[in-house]
Amino acid sequence: MGKLNKIAVSGKGGVGKTTLSAILAHLYVERGRDVIAIDADPAGGLAEALGFPPELVAQVTPVAEMDDLIYERTGAKPGSYGAFFSLNPRVDDIPDRFSIAHRGIRFLRLGDIESGGSGCICPESAMLKALVTHLLLYRDEMLILDMEAGVEHLGRATARAVDAFLVVIEPGRRSIATARQVRKLAADIGIHRVYAVGNKVRNESDWEFIKEGSPVPTLGYLSVNPELTEADMRGASIFDAAPKTVAEVRAIVEALEALD
Ligand SMILES: Nc1ncnc2c1ncn2[C@@H]1O[C@H](COP(=O)(O)OP(=O)(O)OP(=O)(O)O)[C@@H](O)[C@H]1O
Ligand SMILES: [Mg+2]
Repeated sequence: MGKLNKIAVSGKGGVGKTTLSAILAHLYVERGRDVIAIDADPAGGLAEALGFPPELVAQVTPVAEMDDLIYERTGAKPGSYGAFFSLNPRVDDIPDRFSIAHRGIRFLRLGDIESGGSGCICPESAMLKALVTHLLLYRDEMLILDMEAGVEHLGRATARAVDAFLVVIEPGRRSIATARQVRKLAADIGIHRVYAVGNKVRNESDWEFIKEGSPVPTLGYLSVNPELTEADMRGASIFDAAPKTVAEVRAIVEALEALD
């Protein structure tokens, strides 16, 4: 079954966060777990990478866009910055009511908070933070959180619940610089179990570059694989379309589960 319960994935834009998250979700289903995959990246794309049928994906409303529900639960309309609103809205029914499910994976999309930048104090951010807290602390599924380059929606109260915070790094200085920033943001809220996964590795020297530059311990890498590009173009499930990458992620799961 494994020891881990909650995994968050972060890193620079386009580095492979969604690819890794999607394969992790399927691998934990294979290991017998109930899995909930959360698309916390405003740009989205996780449902498609997971291979959810488009008709099903079309039914998903991002939680941040549920204006009536946010109003009902927080007492303020989304976008109302000065207003009083609850920082502890009820969210326990949301995962079951607003998720879609396919091949053993429950999927929920958080959506975008139109504020630009961090620290938006608005009803919708209170809602998302309460929801992520609930998912981390009170649900026992294997949770895979596909994030942006940051720690949005996480906080000191939830840091303990994150079993592994994975930063994806590609062979490139910007990706390493982002990994450093992400590690600092994570450390600031008390997340210390941060590990790197290399991606788009073409050869041994790419992997050396990542290992040398990574600010955190590396768990393994994914080779550059044209099957992933193909899958992305066709909108196909990455898990089915890229067996070699799946095998590489399987090795990463083993490394993760073997951590102290
Ligand atoms: N190992 C790889 N080999 C080849 N292509 C890859 C690899 N990993 C990811 N890609 C491709 O790179 C692109 C970005 O990958 P992905 O969407 O997983 O990154 P992301 O970090 O989630 O991006 P975003 O920041 O936009 O959410 C996709 O087209 C994907 O197919
Ligand atoms: Mg993504």
